[in-house]
Amino acid sequence: MSKETFNPTRYNHSDNKPFEEVLEANLSRRSILKGGLGISAMTAFGAFGLTGCNSSSSDSAASSARVSSATLNFQSIAGSRIDAVAVPPGYVAQVLVPWGTPLNAQGSAWLSDGSNTSTDQLNALGMHHDGMHFFPINDSATDGLLCINHEYIDQAALHPSGPTVSGGVRTIVDEVRKEIYAHGVSVVRIQLQNNTWQLVDDDPLNRRYTGATVMDLSGPVAYTESVVTRFSPDGSQARGTLNNCGNGYTPWGTYLTCEENWPGYFVNAGTRTEEQDRIGIENSSTRYLWESLAGNAEERLDEFSRFNLAPTGASSSDDYRNEANGHGYIVEIDPYTANSRAKKRTALGRFRHEGCTFAKLEAGKPVVFYSGHDSRFEYLYKFESAANWDPADANPANRLVTGDKYMDEGTLYVARFNEDSTGTWLPLTLDSVTTDSGTLADHFDTLADIIINTAGAADLVGATPMDRPEWCTVDPYTGSVYLTLTNNTSRTSETNPANPRLNNKFGHVIRWDEGDSSSEFSWDIFVFGSAAGEDADTNRSSLTELNQFASPDGLSFDGRGILWIQTDNGASEVTSYTNDQMLCVVPSKLTDENGDQVAISADNQADLRRFFVGPNGCEVTGFAISPDYKSVFVNIQHPGNWPYSEDAAEATPDGVTVRPRAATVVIRREDGGEIGV
Ligand code: FEO
Ligand code: CA
Ligand code: CA
Ligand code: CA
Repeated sequence: MSKETFNPTRYNHSDNKPFEEVLEANLSRRSILKGGLGISAMTAFGAFGLTGCNSSSSDSAASSARVSSATLNFQSIAGSRIDAVAVPPGYVAQVLVPWGTPLNAQGSAWLSDGSNTSTDQLNALGMHHDGMHFFPINDSATDGLLCINHEYIDQAALHPSGPTVSGGVRTIVDEVRKEIYAHGVSVVRIQLQNNTWQLVDDDPLNRRYTGATVMDLSGPVAYTESVVTRFSPDGSQARGTLNNCGNGYTPWGTYLTCEENWPGYFVNAGTRTEEQDRIGIENSSTRYLWESLAGNAEERLDEFSRFNLAPTGASSSDDYRNEANGHGYIVEIDPYTANSRAKKRTALGRFRHEGCTFAKLEAGKPVVFYSGHDSRFEYLYKFESAANWDPADANPANRLVTGDKYMDEGTLYVARFNEDSTGTWLPLTLDSVTTDSGTLADHFDTLADIIINTAGAADLVGATPMDRPEWCTVDPYTGSVYLTLTNNTSRTSETNPANPRLNNKFGHVIRWDEGDSSSEFSWDIFVFGSAAGEDADTNRSSLTELNQFASPDGLSFDGRGILWIQTDNGASEVTSYTNDQMLCVVPSKLTDENGDQVAISADNQADLRRFFVGPNGCEVTGFAISPDYKSVFVNIQHPGNWPYSEDAAEATPDGVTVRPRAATVVIRREDGGEIGV
């Protein structure tokens, strides 16, 4: 989410202040161990060494080693502020599948004047690429499906001369349909040929899921009154997925797309419900005014009316008062099955999901997913499946039925970070104890009601308000889970141990290990973002010019144990030196004399290296890697004046203006070797 559209409103008005004291920064792993949870004594590596359709990020560390053998073999690159990407010497960067690239013969070629129609857009790559994953076909490293999120749109670039609005009302139906179709997810077949990745034109698996695609609701909220609409009177379906930011994937070969700032697409100008108020549904008009075309003579199946939540009929099956209740979820897509319908997995909670990441798998134990709620002072959640993991499910006959097994029934928890570097997962169930010694049953009638207002329930049990939780990722060697907290300049009065800096404009990365029970964990802060020139209280990780960063956001381990950190809109102290970037480090190798993991500090900061810098105006987001580790895919979102050619590192010449296009960038080595090592 760019600074242009990020809504800095604080929606959490609860007074959760679990801690009054600021704990010393950079708790050492040893001090945590002394706390007694034995965090580094994690069990031997579980069933991560999957073969078959599941891919990349955690599939190759198929040993019980607790320390990666990867050694970074490139020098940290300098910052860059040009209309081109920057990579280390010996690397090349290719522009792949930019916004508007046709997926099939139904869409026309992308036109540089912005005049493509909504039908073209429906059959082409969406805008503002974000989270993504590479799904190999037949275990190939050179043939696969790239699933790509499209977070939001730049109306100025999407249309010939921006949106047509008159008196606060959109006037051109095709223009609004084009905007809705530019949202969602693309599934794209790609192959490596002659050292260049190519989209496979018209492949039967190429397809779009848009802001209008019909999807199934699954889990506790499905078929309840809360999701009854005129379109779906039995509450079984919702239309579209919106603001798909971070992503995940599952151990059974499906893609997870995460609905983040969706409340901005819905309005209730009347009296908002408690949960609409808590999550931040708009109260006057929406971000792109789609609802303003309600009642237009060309409107089909209430395609625009549905964004207005004000009740107009006698009951919920007569109007769209519940339309937004079909949004705010983790959505599962089976990339390998053409025409398969996406499923919204409501059991994982309803909030502004940034990403969704599964924990280290163990046969016979629940499958665990983590997801952050990206707004100021919001929370970190985990979901633990009721079913225990069966490694045979890594290659199931029906992937979405396997999703039903592990994602529709289980327990949702929210995190409380205690000051002794332990943490507590607080369940969100009817019998959960609230901070006033009641239970959630005093406030909610059903589990579905809790899920609809997940953040409101989390307020009541005393979760820890965080500095904007973004992506999570799991170290395939240690099992430690890492989470970006991108920034929070609204933290002006209270800190807590997990968010220890006031006016946190640089952000930080926190990590934890699960404890012996489902409710325990232990944590420390891995690295604090900062400009190199800040004082020691701000630059707590002793960053230098060669690795200074701000606003960490995208975060992914690859299967070799390399952690990739991406940034989104750094503070001016950093952006005056470099555009948004991607750094990497091998955390499992950073240990003390006892072999316990340590944080980034003056002693080891040179191990955190800048690998990539994006073009002017962009955010660097989304990470995928081919199974042979020879191609890294990252997304460039909202660039200013790029791309100029298929060479992502070719700068747009001075005086030349291009229509900007979000795109995937593929990074390869000139000698064809593995990336980074
Ligand atoms: Fe869409 Fe939280 O970044
Ligand atoms: Ca962000
Ligand atoms: Ca984004
Ligand atoms: Ca993000």
